[in-house]
Amino acid sequence: MPLPPATSDFAARLIAWQAQHGRHDLPWQRTRDPYRIWLSEIMLQQTQVGTVIPYYARFLERFPDIAALAAAPQAAVLELWAGLGYYARARNLHRCAQKIVAEHGGIFPREAEKIAELPGIGRSTAAAVAAFAFGARGAILDGNVKRVLARCFAVEGFPGQVAVEHRLWALAESLLPAARIEAYTQGLMDLGATLCTRGRPRCGDCPLRGLCVAEREERQASLPTPRPAKAVPQRESTVTLFTDGRRVLLERRPPQGIWGGLLAPPEGKPEDLAARLGLRPCGAAEELPALRHAFTHFRLTLRPWRCRVEPAAPTAADADGHEWVDLAAHATAALPTPVKKLLARLAAA
Ligand code: ADE
Repeated sequence: MPLPPATSDFAARLIAWQAQHGRHDLPWQRTRDPYRIWLSEIMLQQTQVGTVIPYYARFLERFPDIAALAAAPQAAVLELWAGLGYYARARNLHRCAQKIVAEHGGIFPREAEKIAELPGIGRSTAAAVAAFAFGARGAILDGNVKRVLARCFAVEGFPGQVAVEHRLWALAESLLPAARIEAYTQGLMDLGATLCTRGRPRCGDCPLRGLCVAEREERQASLPTPRPAKAVPQRESTVTLFTDGRRVLLERRPPQGIWGGLLAPPEGKPEDLAARLGLRPCGAAEELPALRHAFTHFRLTLRPWRCRVEPAAPTAADADGHEWVDLAAHATAALPTPVKKLLARLAAA
């Protein structure tokens, strides 16, 4: 991918900004112990710094090194994780410690590629641990960094798509400075967490101001490209409102499915239903305007028919769960919203 002209500036600006405005006193900084750095990166994967700090302290007190963690029962590890969420992280951490003891002589591997082979450690986390613990030069690309890069270099497309992620990785690699990888890596994280936030980024304070395409073109809200909306399935249902002028025939829907257990007009065309239900239509049925309703997982288009029938006998539910319901009931009865709307139309007609 051809790089925009000013990219060489990117790392220099970040490093200078990190020195002045970045975070320097977090409990996992000022150490080169890969165990402590790894633990912090795993805890920070889905959890904010402020929440992580007390958990991190308790965890290290109980398991001060890899050997202590590897020797512990899983339940003890999970207990110290209780409340942090995403418990697969804790189980992987534990497995990871055991693997390091069993296969690496208890020594944390130094190369990002080797670190990435451990359970629960992806490419970005492996690069972050290698950078902070060993000064290894490698690119990181977590959610925050994706946002910074997508904005600064106007990388279009949803970053969750493989092709877009590939472009972002290539960009992240191409931007790496020759030296000071720790400050650069921490600067990227700090910028994404503090200034280049998803909503209301503080572009006025940003070291990338002038370089950043999103800031120059005021595209902060549309970069990174949001997750594409899932296509919502469309369903159609033809229903018939049989009415004797005063009441309408409804049926209780089966407990599963939409409107489970509630009353709704029977599904089907007037002629089929009339024959099945033993109703005697008077005059021709007429199709009413369609009614659309959005459910959580699909959109429903109701195609209602109205059919006048001769006054019919039953008022209580028959064996199939059919009930004649007063047209005025749309105002009070526990009916699904679209059914209420249909009845209101019918009552007004
Ligand atoms: N989020 C992920 N890694 C982090 C780190 N090292 N410092 C602060 N926030 C982070």
